[in-house]
Amino acid sequence: MSKFPVLSPELIRRLDVPGPRYTSYPTVPAWSDEFGQCDHVRALEAASHVQDSPLSIYVHIPFCRERCTFCGCNVIVAKDPRKADRYLDFLTKELGLVAKSLGARRGVSRLHLGGGTPTFLDENQLTRLWRSLTAEFTMLPDAEIAVEIDPVVTRDEQLELLRSFGFNRLSLGVQDLDPEVQKAVDRFQSVEETRGRIDLARRLGFRSVNMDLIYGLPRQVQDGWRRTIAQVVELRPERISMFSFAYVPKAKPHQRQLPLADLPTGPTKLELFRTAHDMLMDAGYLAIGMDHFAVPEDELSLAVTESRLWRDFQGYTIVRASDTVALGVTGISCVGGAYAQGVKTLPRYEAAISEGKLPTARGHWLSPDDHRRKTVITQLMCNGKVDLGADGESTFAKELAALSRLEADGLVEIHGSLIRATPIGRVFVRNIAMVFDAYLERQAEGATTFSRTV
Ligand SMILES: C[S@@+](CC[C@H](N)C(=O)[O-])C[C@H]1O[C@@H](n2cnc3c(N)ncnc32)[C@H](O)[C@@H]1O
Repeated sequence: MSKFPVLSPELIRRLDVPGPRYTSYPTVPAWSDEFGQCDHVRALEAASHVQDSPLSIYVHIPFCRERCTFCGCNVIVAKDPRKADRYLDFLTKELGLVAKSLGARRGVSRLHLGGGTPTFLDENQLTRLWRSLTAEFTMLPDAEIAVEIDPVVTRDEQLELLRSFGFNRLSLGVQDLDPEVQKAVDRFQSVEETRGRIDLARRLGFRSVNMDLIYGLPRQVQDGWRRTIAQVVELRPERISMFSFAYVPKAKPHQRQLPLADLPTGPTKLELFRTAHDMLMDAGYLAIGMDHFAVPEDELSLAVTESRLWRDFQGYTIVRASDTVALGVTGISCVGGAYAQGVKTLPRYEAAISEGKLPTARGHWLSPDDHRRKTVITQLMCNGKVDLGADGESTFAKELAALSRLEADGLVEIHGSLIRATPIGRVFVRNIAMVFDAYLERQAEGATTFSRTV
C-alpha cells in the first residue's frame, strides 16, 4: 500500500471534529435508558430462534490495579484480588440468566475477554470463569478465543493456563515504549517485558499476537515515536491496533491529570500517524480498516483482500457472528435486533442479578432504517467502499449531496450508487460514515463526549 498522503493544514482543521468510532450504529448516545431488562430478555429470546448461527461472547473484567491516566475504558480500580471472587459469583449467575433466555443456542465462534485487565484474575479465578462459561456454552472447534492483557501484570502461569483452555489470540496493551511518554501517562513497561510476553505467547502456540498502540499521547514527539515503531517492527506482532488518543475529559475526568500542554493535536498528531503508517508499510504490514495493521499472512489481511472484514465492539475481526452477547458491568450486547448495555457500577450490577434480573442500563431496538445505515457504515469502516444498491441514490440523496464536499476534498469517489474511500478517506473514514448517521444532528449537545476524528 502507498505511503500516507499529504494533506493541507486547512483540510486537517476542517476534518478534525468530534465523531463516533462506529463500533456500533446507532452509537451509544442515541440509545435509551427506557430499554430495560424486559427488552433485553426479549432480544435474547428472539436470538434463541436462530439456532444454527454461532454466537460471539464478550466478558468484561473491569478491574485494574491502577488507573492509567490516559485510559478511556470502563475500569474499576481495585487493589484486593478477592474483589474478583465476588464478581465471578455474579458473573456466573448472569451467565445462567442469559443462557436460559438463549434456549438451545449455545455454540460460540468467538470469545473475547476484555477489560479492564482480565489477568487481574489469578489462576484459580480464571479457572472458575472458564468453567462457568463452558458449563453454559460450547466453544466451537475453530473458535477465536482472545484475551486482552497488560504485559506488566501478567504472569507466565496465567498465559499457560489460558492457552491450555484454548485461548488462541492475545492482545497486549503497550501504547508507547518511549520512557518520556510512559512517564507522562503514568504507565511503565519496558521493551523486555513486552518481548517476554510475545515470546512466551509464541512458544505456547497462540495463533496471533496483537499490540495496542496509541498515537496522540502527551509528550509523543517524532524521534521517540520513531524509536517505538522501530521496536514494535522488530517484535513483529501479527496485528497492531493504532488507536487515536481519545481525550474525553467529560466522560473520564482523570484524563485532566495528563500534562495537557504537551498533547499533540491536529497536524502534529496526524504526523505521528503518518510516521507509524509509513514505517509499518515499509516493514511489510498491510493497513486494515481505519487504524489497524497486520502482517500479510494474517487472516485479517486475507479478509481485506476478499472484502470480508467485519467490525464490532471488539474491533476488526473475520468472525462475523450474527449476535454478540456481553456479560459483566458495562458489557455491550448486539443481539436479536437490539443493542443492550450493562450497568456501570458493581452495586447496581449485583442488585439486579440478586433479583434474578439482567443488569441492563440502556439499549436500542434497531429500526429498518438503522439496519440500512448500519450496513452502509460497516462496509465503509471495513472495506472502504459501499454500494448503496438499486434505490440507494434516491434513499440516500441527501447524504450523496453532502458527500460531494468530501469528494471535492479528495476523501471519496462517487460513481452512481458506489462510494469508495480514497487513501485519505480511509484514514478519515469516520468523517465519511458521519454523513450517514441519522442521529448526529440531534446529538449536537452530546457530541462533545465523542473523541476527535484527528
Ligand atoms: C481496555 S484496554 C485493556 C488493556 C490492558 N488493560 C492494558 O492496560 O494493557 C484496551 C486498549 O484500549 C486502548 N485505550 C484505552 N484508553 C484509550 C484512549 N483514551 N484513547 C485511545 N485508546 C485507548 C489502549 O490501547 C488499551 O490497550
